[in-house]
Amino acid sequence: MLDELFDLLRIPSVSADPAYAGDVQKCAEAVADSLKQAGASNVEVMATPGHPIVFGEYIVDSSSPTVLVYGHYDVQPADPIELWDNPAFEPIIKTTDIHPEGAIFARGSCDDKGQMFMHVKALEAMVASGEVPCNVKFIIEGEEEVGSDNLDDFLEDHKEKLAADVVLVSDTGIIANDTPSICVGLRGLAYVEVQITGPNRDLHSGLYGGAAPNPINILCEMIASLKDEDQRITVDGFYDDVLELSDAEREAMARAPFSEEAYKNSIGIGGTEGEPSYSPPERMSIRPTLDLNGIWGGYTGEGAKTVIPSIATAKISMRLVPHQDFEKITEQFMAHFEKIAPPSVSVKITPMHGAAPAVTPTDNPAYKAASRAMQDTYGKEPIPVRSGGSIPIVASFERILGLKTVLFGFGLDSDAIHSPNEHYGVFNYFKGIETIPLFYKYYAEANA
Ligand code: BES
Ligand code: MN
Ligand code: MN
Repeated sequence: MLDELFDLLRIPSVSADPAYAGDVQKCAEAVADSLKQAGASNVEVMATPGHPIVFGEYIVDSSSPTVLVYGHYDVQPADPIELWDNPAFEPIIKTTDIHPEGAIFARGSCDDKGQMFMHVKALEAMVASGEVPCNVKFIIEGEEEVGSDNLDDFLEDHKEKLAADVVLVSDTGIIANDTPSICVGLRGLAYVEVQITGPNRDLHSGLYGGAAPNPINILCEMIASLKDEDQRITVDGFYDDVLELSDAEREAMARAPFSEEAYKNSIGIGGTEGEPSYSPPERMSIRPTLDLNGIWGGYTGEGAKTVIPSIATAKISMRLVPHQDFEKITEQFMAHFEKIAPPSVSVKITPMHGAAPAVTPTDNPAYKAASRAMQDTYGKEPIPVRSGGSIPIVASFERILGLKTVLFGFGLDSDAIHSPNEHYGVFNYFKGIETIPLFYKYYAEANA
């Protein structure tokens, strides 16, 4: 099971970079082969206007409930590659403090090849033992890390093929290996690129400096004004639709263990940022954010160059919470950012992508089956936790297919997803493969 995962991890299926398109296709075919080997039928690599979606199914009978398993085989770019201790696409097992049984180091090991592949291996094990309690359908996509732009149309076009009772996704995490949890909420996302243009060319900063508008200075001032002294985002209307949690909900959240000291030490910071009236876990899950992801302009090479640049650019992401709408937020941001720009410069804003926030219920048979399954394999009842990350398609499953999702992830926040040295615990991988069949068992029992 480890060797087969390693084969998948060796394929650099980076969806963001066109240079890897061939590898993305190759990875889709490898996933399809693994589904066939596990015993799935009607396995297909289905073309989209972007990267392909892999479908497969194992149908036991029409009276059993049907579970739609979603995952993604695409990965984030490995950059900056010089910060990896081992090459990103040459998986290797090493132990860490948190993973004494060893962890698989490779891009995609946790997000999401390792977690997606647990479902393939769980199916294979169930088929081999002759006990498959539910119908299982798989859609494994190749564009999650770039916003799943083609998946909505795919769902619309294949409603019948994808008909199911619930969606099961392993692409989130648990609190710790001795503290199981189930993710019950994801944030949405509005992502824009902003560009400020000042003079029509780079200028001598001595001859022109003082009167010529400097787009980097101006961009920095504009960005600084996007938060006030209470760390609230100043975009007009930004908080209009934000759902405030009840005191009872906030108290329930506060029961999940969180150590600010351990948090600070784990990422090497001297203190936390954000709204003082919310705890750090709340700021990272139930509150919206505005963050710069990149900023550049002018001279960034060796040595000094005295220049007033013509252009400055930044990439800005806003994480959204229920019931914020990413299209509305994008429009509000654009109107606000244009309004605060001084007349000396021009502004260009390009929306990059968006995702709707999602909350998943805990009072349905699928959540309860997942909870019981983890109770069995961890010996503890999992805690429901809202996460700060985004999985664009979860809201679409509800809107287009009318299906609820169970976010049945087994990774850890410290697994360095999207970062150099991403890894996934061998313990977590096998724990997932062990727990997933129990989900099917309990879910089928609840539907019997
Ligand atoms: N699997 C992650 C999201 C995640 C990780 C949610 C851990 C909760 C816990 C997913 O692959 C991801 O990275 N999503 C992107 C979405 C974006 C590219 C549209 C994100 O959150 O930045
Ligand atoms: Mn993922
Ligand atoms: Mn990701």
